[in-house]
Amino acid sequence: MSEAPRARIAGYQADPERIGRVLLLYSGGLDTSVMLHWIQRRYGVEIITLTVDLGQPGEDWKAVLGKARVLGAVDAIRIDAREEFARDYVLPAIRANALYGGGYPLFTALARPLIAKLAVEQARRTGCDTIAHGCTGKGNDQVRIDGTIATLDPGLKVIAPVREWEMGRDEEIAYAREHRIPVRGGSERPPYSIDDNLWGRSSEGRSIEDLEQPPPEDVFNLVTRPEQAPDEPELLRVGFERGCPVSLDGERLELVELIERATELGARHGVGIVDQLEDRIVGLKVRDIYEVPAAAILMPAHRDLERLVSTSHQNGFKRMLEDKWAYLCYAGLWHEPLHADLDAYMDSANAHVTGELTVKLYKGSASVVARSSPYALYDSALAGFGESGGEVSQQAGPGFIELFTLQSRLAHRVRHRGDGVDDRREERR
Ligand code: ARG
Repeated sequence: MSEAPRARIAGYQADPERIGRVLLLYSGGLDTSVMLHWIQRRYGVEIITLTVDLGQPGEDWKAVLGKARVLGAVDAIRIDAREEFARDYVLPAIRANALYGGGYPLFTALARPLIAKLAVEQARRTGCDTIAHGCTGKGNDQVRIDGTIATLDPGLKVIAPVREWEMGRDEEIAYAREHRIPVRGGSERPPYSIDDNLWGRSSEGRSIEDLEQPPPEDVFNLVTRPEQAPDEPELLRVGFERGCPVSLDGERLELVELIERATELGARHGVGIVDQLEDRIVGLKVRDIYEVPAAAILMPAHRDLERLVSTSHQNGFKRMLEDKWAYLCYAGLWHEPLHADLDAYMDSANAHVTGELTVKLYKGSASVVARSSPYALYDSALAGFGESGGEVSQQAGPGFIELFTLQSRLAHRVRHRGDGVDDRREERR
């Protein structure tokens, strides 16, 4: 471990000589527990911890706060931010069909701007001038957290001890042992780096890094292996209003509870396992194993409903904006004005995304098998085979085709002039 003061690269980084009081974003895991001890020793300052509940399944919050106090925190704050997370972060992502790299529903990326915002608020309230967090110097989260803090309050400073202390996992465990810091699950090396909340769970590191091997069985903690899922399919009805999921099987639910139930159902049926090779903002490629059962049910359902109620022009255009939305979120640019511009579009595009979908859950798949909406731009009388009359005349077809293909036909003729075929055709006229 190096004790030499580090050079500050960015203006928002704390000057070690001038740290007053620190607000530490605390999960209760190894990194932030070691950090809680290390910062007090290294800088001789008071620490207040902030723990944010975003619906991480199975967390014992009392134990986490107790541990913070035992390790010397002058105060340990917990905020239940589940509702705000669902309403202001997950819902816009659903409306934007936001997937990064084709498969990642962004649960970690969505949580970071909220965590950073709460940290700024609590730092101000408790008289802290510096925020500390457990992000590494190789990941996306540092970009999201540092960037959001520096945006929201340029007066606050940041420290990220993992970027400077030069301890590996084993050294951290040794440090923990030396200073009697309790380590969850004993003192073996924790097998994977986990992040989870209401909207999903990710695992990285260790044997997952071997791209040539399928993910080891012990990665999966949420979703049943599809092979072991029930042999009977289950049909689930999902109701939407203005792009927001509001009911399951006809029962109205608050968003947090709806997501939790969808998680349970999807997990039981082996739905939502994603093995993704991902391009980080910071350049590196990483392999993540995602378990995202709720997203795997709700997002395809939402997309299907959108397709039903929107015009072909709207459907085609929105895809392009969705990719940009997902990228800005992934990159931590939550407060970038373009993000608000895109959100305004997404809200408007979701104004009529109201209806009900039936999703079939079966051994790893969640597929939409039925849909209905008062705003459906679908008329079975028009679409059906063998129907005549009504608003669409079959005789109108050739006239449409003549005009619709006009420019393409002209271009083809002009470009192939002289190669024989089209000249002959013109002579025939
Ligand atoms: N790759 C995802 C992201 O950058 C998830 C990272 C989650 N962190 C973890 N330690 N598993 O948003």
